[in-house]
Amino acid sequence: MRFYWDCIFVYSQVDDFLIFFQSIPFKFLQLEMPKLGFIIALSVFLLFAFYTVLSNFKIRKSVIVSRNSSSSSLTHKLIKSDTKLHQIRILSERNSSEMEEGLDNPWVPSLEEFTFAKNSAPFNSCHASTIVEVDKDYFLLAYFGGSYEGAPDVKIWLQMHKDGYWHRPIIADEQTDVPMWNPVLFKLPSNELLLFYKIGQEVQKWSGCMKRSYDGGITWSEREQLPPGILGPIKNKVPLLLGNGKLLCGSSIESWNSWGAWVEMTSDSGRSWKKYGPIYIKNESLSVIQPVPYQTENGNLRVLLRSFDGIGRVCMSESLDGGETWSFVVPTDLPNPNSGIDGVKLSDGRVLLAYNTVSRGVLKVAVSGDDGDSWREVVTLEEMDGMEFSYPAVIEASDGCVHITYTYNRTQIKHVVLQPKMMML
Ligand SMILES: *[C@@H]1O[C@H](CO)[C@@H](O)[C@H](O)[C@H]1NC(C)=O
Ligand SMILES: *[C@@H]1O[C@H](CO)[C@@H](O)[C@H](O)[C@H]1NC(C)=O
Ligand SMILES: *[C@@H]1O[C@H](CO)[C@@H](O)[C@H](O)[C@H]1NC(C)=O
Ligand SMILES: *[C@@H]1O[C@H](CO)[C@@H](O)[C@H](O)[C@H]1NC(C)=O
Repeated sequence: MRFYWDCIFVYSQVDDFLIFFQSIPFKFLQLEMPKLGFIIALSVFLLFAFYTVLSNFKIRKSVIVSRNSSSSSLTHKLIKSDTKLHQIRILSERNSSEMEEGLDNPWVPSLEEFTFAKNSAPFNSCHASTIVEVDKDYFLLAYFGGSYEGAPDVKIWLQMHKDGYWHRPIIADEQTDVPMWNPVLFKLPSNELLLFYKIGQEVQKWSGCMKRSYDGGITWSEREQLPPGILGPIKNKVPLLLGNGKLLCGSSIESWNSWGAWVEMTSDSGRSWKKYGPIYIKNESLSVIQPVPYQTENGNLRVLLRSFDGIGRVCMSESLDGGETWSFVVPTDLPNPNSGIDGVKLSDGRVLLAYNTVSRGVLKVAVSGDDGDSWREVVTLEEMDGMEFSYPAVIEASDGCVHITYTYNRTQIKHVVLQPKMMML
């Protein structure tokens, strides 16, 4: 077996230091003599580690990129020994041509990891993740998990990322014999955390619910049911706190021969609600769902939307009056195979969107410099036939890093980090 170690990323607590190491692809380590290459890689790594300790920096996380897919058994060994070695994680294996491209593309994730090891969770299937930054280097992740999507044993699960690693999944809420769906986490400026989700035998029958946490997600209130007809944010986070403290939730309906989106607003963090819409494609009864709301540079509101089979495009609608009335929906240039999307308006003004293209087997990221009028594809996160990489959740953390979580073939949740502040459009 041969291993090729291309890069070693050492994450220290000092930003400059981090950039320094990431900017060096250790191409010289691609030696034909694998053992020698490995020994050099290890010595270099140990030297850096020693140096950081000497310089009083704490190593937060290190990542070794392995070039050759034949190293997968080693990768799995390292992932299995996760508890001892949680400082070291392996970037996903890519084949050499992808890797070659990857080294030159600054949009390739600086970190890729699973939030739990394969076959280690107390459920077979999981989907629809949501992530929120509670504090610096402290994230909460939620998703639904059970036997399969819609099975009576599907519960809402929570995982905490603290002290540099993902803690094991714990149950956030469950209902005997009734499945739960699509959680959405949100943090209010007061630090109160909101967890929205749906409960019901099927999508057409589900009702909106929520819980609150006042201690960073350690304890949660009793379940509150939202008023009839209010579902809360249907899949994507609530990115908008309009000037007057209003939350704008992108909601949608999937009922018989009728798909469309709504915007639900609350001024008292989920206690009373108003809804506006419908948002749909003119003359199209099965049109769009799962809005991604954001505010444009000129102060208008937009939503990007998943569209029904045959429409084939990510769609968009705009409101010029603070979300009360919405334009008919129009298609964008981005493809959409009737699959969940999510995006974020970055602090530098760009809009970043994660989306599937031809199928849920391809997951990409695109960036727009004009609030969604035009898009540039920047990186392919996943591409493999027969696999599902779906339902991305995207946030920008306080340090400017973009965190994306998504369903990994329905068995795991994958977490990747991009660093758009280091890049040009
Ligand atoms: C990866 O390993 C295989 C099997 O050892 C080898 O045939 C192949 O040349 C290697 N690929 C690269 C890019 O080094
Ligand atoms: C490697 O990746 C490239 C680009 O995605 C793809 O065209 C090629 O088929 C892949 N090769 C293998 C052996 O998977
Ligand atoms: C909408 O449907 C009506 C009736 O079927 C049709 O006359 C009209 O041209 C359609 N409009 C568009 C924009 O497709
Ligand atoms: C991904 O999921 C599909 C459908 O469940 C399954 O057939 C396939 O074996 C899975 N692939 C991997 C690599 O787990």
